[in-house]
Amino acid sequence: MNDPSLACTSLFRTSSFYAGHWQSSEKRIRVIDPASGEEIGTVPNLSGEETRKAIEFADAEQRRWAKTTGKYRAKLLRNWADLMLLHKEDLAKIMTWEQGKPLSESMGEIEYAASFLEWFGEEAKRTYGDVIPSHRQELRLLALREPVGVSAILTPWNFPSAMITRKAGPALAAGCVVIAKPSELTPFSALALAVLAQEAGFPSGAFQVLTGEPEPIANEFLESSLVRKISFTGSTRVGKILLEKAAKSVKRISLELGGNAPFVVFSDADLKEAVKGAMLSKFRNTGQTCVCANRFLVEQSVLPEFSARLVEAVSKLKVGNGFDEGVQQGPLINSLGFAKLRRHIEDARSRGGKILTGGKPHSLGGNFHEPTVITGVSEDSLCFQEETFGPLAPILGFKTEEDAVRIVNSGKTGLASYFYTTDPARIWRFSESIEAGMVSINEGLLSTEQVPFGGVKESGIGREGSRYGIEEYQELKYLCWGGQDPLADSF
Ligand code: SIN
Repeated sequence: MNDPSLACTSLFRTSSFYAGHWQSSEKRIRVIDPASGEEIGTVPNLSGEETRKAIEFADAEQRRWAKTTGKYRAKLLRNWADLMLLHKEDLAKIMTWEQGKPLSESMGEIEYAASFLEWFGEEAKRTYGDVIPSHRQELRLLALREPVGVSAILTPWNFPSAMITRKAGPALAAGCVVIAKPSELTPFSALALAVLAQEAGFPSGAFQVLTGEPEPIANEFLESSLVRKISFTGSTRVGKILLEKAAKSVKRISLELGGNAPFVVFSDADLKEAVKGAMLSKFRNTGQTCVCANRFLVEQSVLPEFSARLVEAVSKLKVGNGFDEGVQQGPLINSLGFAKLRRHIEDARSRGGKILTGGKPHSLGGNFHEPTVITGVSEDSLCFQEETFGPLAPILGFKTEEDAVRIVNSGKTGLASYFYTTDPARIWRFSESIEAGMVSINEGLLSTEQVPFGGVKESGIGREGSRYGIEEYQELKYLCWGGQDPLADSF
């Protein structure tokens, strides 16, 4: 068992935070350490009725919160970010405990998460509207930016803190109160954020955290006319259900859904850099990010050399408990994630794929798996058709740039894509030909708070981070102001 000792034990909460209090419940849900398989603790499994209380409480706060100044909201967001950094180690320990990622990655995620609070706090002061040149002398025309209203955010287990702050940061900055529903697999990071939000000075209705099974809580969000915005990060399957249900009350919705990121290596690429980028992109969070390289497309002439270099790097990865020194790959989140990885490997093998390294469950047992490289994968393999969300790098050779474009654009998703080349003309041409919300050129890590993160096609709607992220939580109000040129007749 991990059981990390925390410097600030009050960050570890087993109650939900809503309607002004930390509240328990008789119905509980177990949270499991993915590394040991042991129970970490339990949290309330909240119902629709309890969710309604949180929504009503949020609605009352919304009226007050919308009237605060951007400067005030910026100050609280900054306080919150600073507190996260102050408690970085404890927050990272909680994250590794419930999510399994190596402690160094959890520390990195806490910094990443805090950066969204800092960034959107700064943006809060700059939510300018427009004065629009008028078509009539006596009219003045304006556009104001107003908060959308109560925002419900549904966040995933793979980034238990950053996906909360990437949504709550812009929402709060825009003047929207937030009800967070973290994944039932990783609620403790979210609850720790609620402790720090209180300490930062947020009113209790500005940031609430509901725990439990997703369906009753999400259904209540969807059915309530008081909730004006839903933001979700997770699977395309669930995103489609939310989109359909949100239509009933015409709610604003942002969806950050699955990807199937291609990683293309052209023959003129710097192969050393390409392998470095591949390792970053593929193996971050044990392959469990929606921007992880999922399909490797390598030009035939460099296929043997790229594969050999990748195998060398992958076979050195240290797998283990995220708390252990030097570990680079933790466990898969649970047996479902593990089973999907196994299915993808078996399927690729059955269609002619050749395992170059890994391929088996790890000797540590449980949810641990060997980082794996398979070559000779066919285009119709499961691992090329859908996200694996695990440490598998399948490789397919291609002959021409046209082939690469066709394969990259096949399929329904378009989130992140990566390619390596040293040809400047190709950089423009290829970037413009591929269907993706994000294109990373000669670089394996594209995520940062300043950029618009999001996808096209079935990978989602809307953008998070960047100066655009706050617009997801704003409505434009047009003011048409008559009688503004009383002296017009005298000229
Ligand atoms: C995700 O996997 O959903 C987010 C990844 C990132 O922010 O880099």
